[in-house]
Amino acid sequence: MKIGFIGLGIMGSRMAANLRNAGHTVVVHNRTREKAEHLLSLGATWAASPADVALEAEAVFTMLAPPEAVRQAALGGDGFLRALAPGRLWVDFSTVDPSFSREMAEKARETGVRFLDAPVTGSKGYAAEAKLTFWVGGATVDLEAIKPLLECMGNRVIHCGGQGMGSSLKMVMNQMLGTVMAAFSEGLVLGEALGLPRKELLDALLDGAAGAPFLKLKRGRIETGNYEAADFSLRWLHKDLHLAAVSAYDSGVAMPVTNAAKETFGLAVRGGRGDADFSAIYAFLAGHSSTESRL
Ligand SMILES: NC(=O)c1ccc[n+]([C@@H]2O[C@H](COP(=O)([O-])OP(=O)(O)OC[C@H]3O[C@@H](n4cnc5c(N)ncnc54)[C@H](OP(=O)(O)O)[C@@H]3O)[C@@H](O)[C@H]2O)c1
Repeated sequence: MKIGFIGLGIMGSRMAANLRNAGHTVVVHNRTREKAEHLLSLGATWAASPADVALEAEAVFTMLAPPEAVRQAALGGDGFLRALAPGRLWVDFSTVDPSFSREMAEKARETGVRFLDAPVTGSKGYAAEAKLTFWVGGATVDLEAIKPLLECMGNRVIHCGGQGMGSSLKMVMNQMLGTVMAAFSEGLVLGEALGLPRKELLDALLDGAAGAPFLKLKRGRIETGNYEAADFSLRWLHKDLHLAAVSAYDSGVAMPVTNAAKETFGLAVRGGRGDADFSAIYAFLAGHSSTESRL
């Protein structure tokens, strides 16, 4: 199958490389062309616009941030949706809110294109090793058609329900990711202020019942103060907390804890840490300057 892949950032570049390494024909587009160079060296071909991707592809995959970038790629002046032949499939891997996924599903339906939302969990390393989990919303028949391709990029494919339900699950997971990261960081800052040595504090917090597995992966960054070459940027976790808050409003629920975490991440973005790994929220809360911590 000839696959169009739009969005070659941290995640998309690695996912598209795995499709190519599995022998698939891949045509790629990214706002910043330089990020496609590695894929082109693997044998992918370049399309000058999202519409040009659609003219060549049997299925289009998008892995973009934020939702407006997805909207622009699909529906903008040179968007792919009008150029994609009826009956073709669009799979959006981007983390977006469920109402946005449903809106895109409706836009796709109007042009006869089939749509799945399939956001992923697993960060940069998991993407490189094809160990992502896909949380899929949409029709079973469409998922079955595309599953072998998802299995080139990941090792778990979970069908969550109809369109928007993959994005729904992803919203809940990243709401937790952001609030837990912020709460852990505050705990660490408090412990250090009370005079506890950082090593013993980290041992206690990470080995205790409240030490979530992903926090253990952030220990090295916190100990070295190196938040460069983000696995997942702080800017996009702020985006996800915002989208979770929008989803809560849409659903009539209140999330005071999540909104406090969201604004904390927002302050860190304003403070210049948007491109850092999201674990830099610790350095922000600890009041470390950017010279003490790299980013
Ligand atoms: N990194 C992770 O651990 C992780 C894990 C699961 C899910 N996600 C989600 O996956 C998606 C991609 O994340 P990432 O980590 O790969 O981020 P990234 O490296 O920052 O890549 C973002 C992508 O979106 C494009 N983009 C951003 N703004 C745009 C705009 N205004 N117009 C057109 N294109 C635009 C970027 O193009 P340029 O290259 O031109 O900037 C790039 O292709 C996000 O929705 C994120 O929440 C990330």
